[in-house]
Amino acid sequence: MHGADPRLVLGLHRSGHRRDILTAALDLGVHDLDTAAPYHGHRSHQTLAQCAGDLLPKFSISTKVGYFPGIGHSLDPVRLRRGVELAVQDLGREPDLVFLHNPEQSLTGGSPGRLADRLAAACDVLEAAAEQGLCRTWGVSSWDPRPLAAIDLSGLPRPETLMVRAGLLVGVEILDATQAVRKSWKPTTAWGMSPFGGSTARLVWEMFDARPFLQGPRDGHTRTQAAFRIAFRVPVVDAVAVTTDNPVHLRELTEALHFNVDEQSADRYLRHLRQPQRQGCRSFTIRAASRRAGISRGSSWYA
Ligand SMILES: NC(=O)c1ccc[n+]([C@@H]2O[C@H](COP(=O)([O-])OP(=O)(O)OC[C@H]3O[C@@H](n4cnc5c(N)ncnc54)[C@H](OP(=O)(O)O)[C@@H]3O)[C@@H](O)[C@H]2O)c1
Repeated sequence: MHGADPRLVLGLHRSGHRRDILTAALDLGVHDLDTAAPYHGHRSHQTLAQCAGDLLPKFSISTKVGYFPGIGHSLDPVRLRRGVELAVQDLGREPDLVFLHNPEQSLTGGSPGRLADRLAAACDVLEAAAEQGLCRTWGVSSWDPRPLAAIDLSGLPRPETLMVRAGLLVGVEILDATQAVRKSWKPTTAWGMSPFGGSTARLVWEMFDARPFLQGPRDGHTRTQAAFRIAFRVPVVDAVAVTTDNPVHLRELTEALHFNVDEQSADRYLRHLRQPQRQGCRSFTIRAASRRAGISRGSSWYA
């Protein structure tokens, strides 16, 4: 099902940007780092260069442009170009991948044709940046791809990587929009993000046990590991960006990369998620779709 082994990308959203998590990542074989210009109070790039400049060459670094201090979100080509140049300057090296950050934020208030032109102009900037060596490749990261799905993307510059939400908290409308964008834009790779919806302390993770989505004996597997592993399947993605500042948590996540997803359970879950009456209520959707997909294994999935 996956072309390559699932890959963990260490995300830095709301991270303390401490050196110890970066050294732990390298020790655990994690070589992908995902940040964005606005992370860490718009100082992510400078902080990384200051606290771990010597480690950065060992990582493949992705970053994002689209949010600007004092301005907010913008797809203005001049600002985007300057954002890429600043990323190179502040990191002290070219990023491997630059994403257009949540373009949907500025894709409002125009005809579909005008919105497509606005998006195309933004993509042109990143494509040119990659051609000129300011980054190796470019992509698009979208929290809510529904506005993108409403645009004819087939004639626009094609991103190499599309990053979208992944995991059991993603609703069916977002999954469908993701599928539509992938079909018309045909990015080479897809990454998932935010497998826990931003926090493992959310009530849903206390109540929901994703381990029935894994194959084989599950003794020793944690709920967090299972929720992380299934994120590579909902939707199917090559890599998942996850945030942690805790080396023990990172180890736990890297171990989960070796678990196997029960494909039939995942397929059944997705089929039942699409039942019209289940749409619109997220936590009920997880519960109902899992039960109806027959993966409840008694009461273990929902304590
Ligand atoms: N639009 C966009 O482009 C966009 C939007 C959102 C996210 N992202 C990307 O996706 C990445 C991840 O998303 P996210 O930050 O929203 O949230 P997330 O990865 O879903 O959740 C992060 C939380 O999970 C906890 N956690 C991780 N592993 C754990 C473990 N083994 N045990 C217990 N808790 C664990 C972390 O706490 P600890 O630190 O205590 O481990 C952290 O509070 C971001 O860093 C960013 O790279 C991109």
